[in-house]
Amino acid sequence: MVHSPLAIDSKLATVGTTIFTVMSKLATECGALNLAQGFPDFQAEPELFDATLAAMRSGRNQYPPMTGVPELRAAIGEKVAALYGVYYDPEDEITVTAGATQALFTALAAFVRSGDEVIVFAPAYDSYVPAIETVGGRAVHAELVFPDYKPDWDAVRALVTPRTRMIIVNSPHNPTGSLLEVADLDALAELTRDTGIVVLSDEVYEHIVFDGAQHASVAAHAELATRSLVVSSFGKTYHITGWKIGYVVGPAALVGEFRKVHQFNVFTVNTPCQIGIAEYMRDASRHLRLAAFYEHKRDFFRNELRASRFDLLPCRGSYFQLARYSGISERPDVDFAQWLTREVGVAVIPVSAFYADARDDHVVRFCFAKQEATLAAAGEKLRRI
Ligand SMILES: Cc1ncc(COP(=O)(O)O)c(C=O)c1O
Repeated sequence: MVHSPLAIDSKLATVGTTIFTVMSKLATECGALNLAQGFPDFQAEPELFDATLAAMRSGRNQYPPMTGVPELRAAIGEKVAALYGVYYDPEDEITVTAGATQALFTALAAFVRSGDEVIVFAPAYDSYVPAIETVGGRAVHAELVFPDYKPDWDAVRALVTPRTRMIIVNSPHNPTGSLLEVADLDALAELTRDTGIVVLSDEVYEHIVFDGAQHASVAAHAELATRSLVVSSFGKTYHITGWKIGYVVGPAALVGEFRKVHQFNVFTVNTPCQIGIAEYMRDASRHLRLAAFYEHKRDFFRNELRASRFDLLPCRGSYFQLARYSGISERPDVDFAQWLTREVGVAVIPVSAFYADARDDHVVRFCFAKQEATLAAAGEKLRRI
């Protein structure tokens, strides 16, 4: 151990280890089923590994271009055009990133100056607020209204000030599984019209939308697309969260600013994995069938919990299922999640962890990106309480 005598004035004084790490560690310690952290417990297809290994063996192991390998940027451009009807030029409108988290951080660092305000919707994915604060910005919290978790656009409008630099939206939404509709994007477009506000749209679950709904991408919104950066993640789409590869698309003027930071932040992203993904993406059915794949898991898991005392909230997209537990316990959600992990053997995330003020509606989040055997084993335990 090396002791430091420095009196550190932390930029993130209230930030500790994230709840995801805490709950995953507890799950391991207790031998609990881990429905807490958002990652699959099943493998990606061997074709993806074969393509990646072939790239390694053929010598594609050195720094790629700062913006991403051309094959992958071209494949992203084609995919986005096919899905959302808008063509981003791989040359200056698409950048490959080290996962979505880095894309989000870099976007904030590129646009937010000290004292600028960034509107985020609570509950919010946990990286947004610390990233805003690290770059000197101030997070301003709008609310996704419980229990439907829909935005109240009049309330959002009241939060906009001359200091508002960015608005972050996320659909399909983690942790709630709610979706933004085209009408929401219209409201957002109206709200940001004739302002300098940049929209940062986190669409990492873009392919996981249920019950026949269409993903309303900001990229597909002709007006919003002109002032937005759209972020996605191959980790979520191809069951490879540990590879940490994602991308950002946007108009050249915005992506140009993004790249100025990106090149001194990560500079480049793992070459053979980019080539493997580019090769694998050629078959569009691999991302197009993801919705049906996860819809089946959602229905399977909901069915497992039907005879339990959990009250399941709607899940329209993503791979997260929220549940109220008031019928089981009056404990605060953090206590309940720990109790569930220790005593019942199923790890979950308390939803208060996604609120800056730790608001507690007695709701927990289950991740159903798991094998049916795991979901069935969890269901069996959860029906007993
Ligand atoms: C809403 C949201 N955004 C971003 C990410 C991070 O994606 P990546 O692993 O590609 O950094 C996650 C991962 O859980 C997420 O849920």
